[in-house]
Amino acid sequence: MHEYSGMAKIQFPFTLGVGSGEPYPDGVILWTRLAPEPVHPTKPGGMPNRSVSVRWEVAEDAAFRTVLQAGTATAQPDWAHSVHVRVTGLRAGTEYFYRFTAEGHTSPVGRTKTAPDPLSEQPVRIGVISCQRYEHGYFTALKHLAAERPDVILHLGDYIYEYGKPANPAPGRYIRPLESTTECKTLGAYRDRYARYKTDKDLQAAHAAAPWLTLPDDHEVKDNYAGLLPGDGSSPSAFLKRRNAAFKAYYEHLPLRVKPVGNNSQFYRWRPYGKVADLMIVDARQYRDGRDMLGPTQEQWLTSRLRSSTARWKVIAQALFFAPRKFPLEPASSDAWDGFPQSRARVLAAVPGDLVVLSGDVHNAWAAELGNGVEFVTSSVTSHPPGTDGSAMLALNPHLKFFDGRRGYLLVTASMTEFTVDYRAVPYVDRTGAPVVTAGGFRVQDNKLQRTDL
Ligand SMILES: [Fe+2]
Repeated sequence: MHEYSGMAKIQFPFTLGVGSGEPYPDGVILWTRLAPEPVHPTKPGGMPNRSVSVRWEVAEDAAFRTVLQAGTATAQPDWAHSVHVRVTGLRAGTEYFYRFTAEGHTSPVGRTKTAPDPLSEQPVRIGVISCQRYEHGYFTALKHLAAERPDVILHLGDYIYEYGKPANPAPGRYIRPLESTTECKTLGAYRDRYARYKTDKDLQAAHAAAPWLTLPDDHEVKDNYAGLLPGDGSSPSAFLKRRNAAFKAYYEHLPLRVKPVGNNSQFYRWRPYGKVADLMIVDARQYRDGRDMLGPTQEQWLTSRLRSSTARWKVIAQALFFAPRKFPLEPASSDAWDGFPQSRARVLAAVPGDLVVLSGDVHNAWAAELGNGVEFVTSSVTSHPPGTDGSAMLALNPHLKFFDGRRGYLLVTASMTEFTVDYRAVPYVDRTGAPVVTAGGFRVQDNKLQRTDL
């Protein structure tokens, strides 16, 4: 008892909200992080340097009248007092509610849903998002996505941006300035950046509304990095240290199943949704080597997974624009798949049809036909778009079928008979309260895109 005497009581620690993720038919990961002071100059989250017990509960109902499971997890200072509870023994394709208690405080309630049984033909609704730059505006799109209560939310990268506050911000673009003027390079800086983002109530609402599947792109580490090449002249070994710090902070703030160990953070994975969809989450950033986008091990995994998939829809979820693009003025992007045409050709050759690629990164919404499938590109949640001339691009690239220049998200519905996508858009992010509209809707028909909203 002696060591507990004189211990200061922790203030309300659930300031970063709660979340769940990685749905399996029998379970999910529950997440929270204790942080009474989200951004603190010396102590991560304003927490004391000791472990804290956190109780978790899973219930059938949001009022917790029928609690099905409960247990205790330990929030450790080495992992920024984050908690990742691996719940098992749940029913497939079922909604549940969860919450945490610690040091006399109770967290907000989260809703989650398990994945369907492998033989299920139950349809699945998926929210798809990317590129949420805090400084660039309000996450109103996430508030609307939360209200849709999808079965799962896919985040395709740029959950944070590593940049510091610029000395001379462009007028009208820095809506919510960060306190930090320096680029994130250390574990402490990345932790503070996630904590700042996660104080956002709309982001918290989206995490509390559905389980997430997340994949980092470049900005979780550094702009346009490729494999172990940071592109700024620093050595691969120095960059590896930075990347490990970035991935540790990423893990600490998201409901992931796999903890980083040493230099290894594996994000590519297969998440099946019954007989309806195989989700292949693909890391097109970490294993780049020369003209090889995925690295031999991941490419072998992906192509054999695509060849053996018997699901109605073979869905590749990854960060970068997949379809070829010709630009009216500038050269093709060498950071996206146009810079890796052989890798792209090998992936496409592995699947005869019914391929759906979900991507983000470009901060505008697009749709494309790929021959044996289609691609849906989600816009950014807030990140400022490039000055793309959408109609010139559509005229120059007949396989591109849609452009929208507003911020937003995708709402996907996949069933045994249909794959439909609605492009949701918000007209502004520089102030709160934007309504949501449907900018376009598509159905996949024989590997082609059909408009559903005209
Ligand atoms: Fe981005």
